[in-house]
Amino acid sequence: MSPRFVPPSEPPDETRPDRGASSNARGVKPARLRLHGRRRGRRLRAGRQGLTATLLPELRVPLALPGPLDPAALFPFKPREVRLEIGFGAGEHLAHQAKADPDIGFVGCEVFVNGIAALLARVKAENLGNVRILDDDVRLLLGRLPEASLDRVVALFSDPWPKTRHHRRRLIQQDSLDEFARVLKDGGEFRFATDDMGYARWTLLRCLGHPAFAWAARGPQDWRARPQDQPQTRYEAKARARGRACVYLVFQRVPREAEGLPRPPSGDI
Ligand SMILES: C[S@@+](CC[C@H](N)C(=O)[O-])C[C@H]1O[C@@H](n2cnc3c(N)ncnc32)[C@H](O)[C@@H]1O
Repeated sequence: MSPRFVPPSEPPDETRPDRGASSNARGVKPARLRLHGRRRGRRLRAGRQGLTATLLPELRVPLALPGPLDPAALFPFKPREVRLEIGFGAGEHLAHQAKADPDIGFVGCEVFVNGIAALLARVKAENLGNVRILDDDVRLLLGRLPEASLDRVVALFSDPWPKTRHHRRRLIQQDSLDEFARVLKDGGEFRFATDDMGYARWTLLRCLGHPAFAWAARGPQDWRARPQDQPQTRYEAKARARGRACVYLVFQRVPREAEGLPRPPSGDI
């Protein structure tokens, strides 16, 4: 039996400006990776410019090194878990979790320079030693991560691209879910949140149809309420201020030997 998912009624369509493709942080424009969305906003204040010049190089994921990239090896200690946050925005969720769990390694991926600078400021203010940053397109990293190397993948309020002709720009696609399934450990988590009900349904349908993911929800509160360890992010706050409901989806990575086996029916979700 498929779980019943009845999200709040769909808000009016909103479009985001398409600012076209960009090259990545090192000036390389990979043929297949076209990034939609902006890389820069307002000019950075001097302090944040300084952090980008000094702290970012220390924390940057070394994509230029050849071969697979073991995310646990990015930290100067043996992390109890490693989590990846894709599109961390201003980094409030990532920094909050990094502060709460100093023995977990957090890898954040973001292309928006002002957001990266905001996370750097939090890392410095809180003296966080368990954060690493990729200031580039997550797709450049995913393929370099070894199988079963992450405990959690998080994508909060990822750009919804609500127009049908833009749906292929969404982060959640069959290919990206296949990559999440590959890099997550058995029992690991994929967390997704959105205020766009079309994108919520899109992600739910794709994850329910994916042999590697099981929806962890047991009742409506499990997708209507933010997980307790998650603080509100900037985009979530904006959505709520505009009266939009938010949906929080948590999927578990099915153990590899159980992939494709029948699942127990979900309750009244
Ligand atoms: C709508 S914002 C949400 C930010 C934050 N998670 C929040 O909830 O406030 C989506 C973010 O994802 C980033 N992003 C989009 N595509 C990305 C990609 N391929 N790799 C890394 N970050 C990406 C954007 O730059 C943007 O900051």
